[in-house]
Amino acid sequence: MKQILMIEASPRGKNSASRSVANALADLYPSAKLMRRDLAAEHLPHLDEITLQAISTKDLAEAERLKDAARQSDQLTDELLASDLLVIATPMWNFGIPSAVKAWIDLVVRPDRTFRYADSGVLGLANDKKAILVLASGGVFTEGPWRPWDFVEPYLRQILGFIGIVDVQTVRVEGMNIPLLAADAVPKAIEAVEELAL
Ligand SMILES: Cc1cc2nc3c(=O)[nH]c(=O)nc-3n(C[C@H](O)[C@H](O)[C@H](O)COP(=O)(O)O)c2cc1C
Repeated sequence: MKQILMIEASPRGKNSASRSVANALADLYPSAKLMRRDLAAEHLPHLDEITLQAISTKDLAEAERLKDAARQSDQLTDELLASDLLVIATPMWNFGIPSAVKAWIDLVVRPDRTFRYADSGVLGLANDKKAILVLASGGVFTEGPWRPWDFVEPYLRQILGFIGIVDVQTVRVEGMNIPLLAADAVPKAIEAVEELAL
């Protein structure tokens, strides 16, 4: 593994289950170059009119004129494309991803950079990398009655697949709001991460 892009979204610092597991994961690749994007510290903007225009125009002169508006999206997209492993460590919030993660997705899922419309349909252009999802939740979503409420893993797998990332593994830190499960959730997830890295 040469280059890892780690997307972290929990604002809970050292108390964050997803961050604890993501840190353990990063420790398993000491020789990899690690690029961290802390979305809780860095407030990525929502797409506005000029940014949208800047990142979607096919007119080279217009792209040049609007290049400042595209800069942040360009940089985030370059980081993603340069990585061999993408790690998304995120809490479940209201059964989905935090809006900070959605803001990052909106800035990197870009026509002609990470996907392209082809005769055969959509072609993902980020297809040379793997992803690991570290997903923390208060409840349990891998089984049982709440399973259909999980809009985190299905959405992330779908959108990553759209840009060509289909080698996706998931590590769950679940039951954080269930006292009987919470105590073991992080150590269990760290064990799972260690197995992934083997
Ligand atoms: C705003 C907010 C919304 C949450 N929504 C859910 C939810 O819909 N389902 C769930 O199981 N847990 C929910 N939780 C619990 C978190 O997913 C859980 O505390 C998890 O450990 C957070 O990840 P972190 O420890 O990395 O911050 C929510 C927590 C917060 C603060």
